[in-house]
Amino acid sequence: MNLPKLSDVDVSGKRVIVRMDLDVDEDYSRLEFAEETLDFLVKNMAKTIIIGHKGRPEGEKLPELSLAPLADVLGGVVGEKVNFFHDITGYEVQKRVQMLPGGEILLLENLRFDTGEEKNDENFSKDLADLGEVYVNEAFAVSHRPHASIVGIPKFLPHYAGFRFVKEVETLSKVLETPQRPVVLVIGGIKEDKVEYIKNFTGLADKILVGGRLPIYFGDENPDPNKIIMAHLTPDKEDITIHTIEKFKEEISKAGTIVVAGVQGKYEDEGHKQGTLEVFKGIAATSAFKIAGGGDAEAAITEFGLNDKFDWISVGGGAMLEFLTKRSLPGIEALLQ
Ligand code: 3PG
Repeated sequence: MNLPKLSDVDVSGKRVIVRMDLDVDEDYSRLEFAEETLDFLVKNMAKTIIIGHKGRPEGEKLPELSLAPLADVLGGVVGEKVNFFHDITGYEVQKRVQMLPGGEILLLENLRFDTGEEKNDENFSKDLADLGEVYVNEAFAVSHRPHASIVGIPKFLPHYAGFRFVKEVETLSKVLETPQRPVVLVIGGIKEDKVEYIKNFTGLADKILVGGRLPIYFGDENPDPNKIIMAHLTPDKEDITIHTIEKFKEEISKAGTIVVAGVQGKYEDEGHKQGTLEVFKGIAATSAFKIAGGGDAEAAITEFGLNDKFDWISVGGGAMLEFLTKRSLPGIEALLQ
């Protein structure tokens, strides 16, 4: 896959729009994945405009989903001051962007405060594109969404993949080419759209272990009982049972490749940590090729101190699954055009 790369473009003095993964709660490690891209832009005296989303506000300006607090966190990641502007498009933003000196970074407000983002509204894309001269996608985790900032802006600006984005595509492509079998998908979390990914993953995976809230969405239906093992949940539905932990660990011990997408329970609570901790420890103990993806899985792996046991930690959850099942993403296709 011949992605246009940020490393191939002269960005000095140019206004560069960087679409980042900013959908974070208390764990900010996801932001560090963009460090190389931001360092490159600052070193080359680009005028960097960061855009991104947090949560699902559906066009409402919810103060708790403002990106304002992330300016300081990003400043810490890149070792430079990051300024924040409380709007996304319009005359005031244009004015602020025009004043941006080379080497400085400006973060704009949550894109999903405007309904144009998720609708992929062409006028919204154009207004965003007007802010910059170059567009960089460093948001692999949201590149499965055909939204304005992912597929709309690249229509109007020269477009490139950020450093981390390129590595994501290269590493995940290797999993597709020559996977060590059996391939075991260990999936969990609370997002209902994972149900579709599970059905699509039956082509690549030999076994699929389904935990978190996901068994609830299937009810009594198991689309492929030979491959898919549904967890039994504890009575409060916040974790998987001990019996399921044992069953999952047995499958994991036989795996050649393990793909982890999501957590097994509400691991942030001491009383509901066991499923995720035991299953992740079981995975870490195998010699299989191990990849994990998604904000919560990554945060849990970090909390358990298991990062160095994994071969690759993808910034994407849903995006990683979609890439592994469809071999591309809307955000990749937009960069290739
Ligand atoms: C993620 O964290 O998975 C991405 O930011 C996508 O978020 P979404 O599922 O709300 O589109």
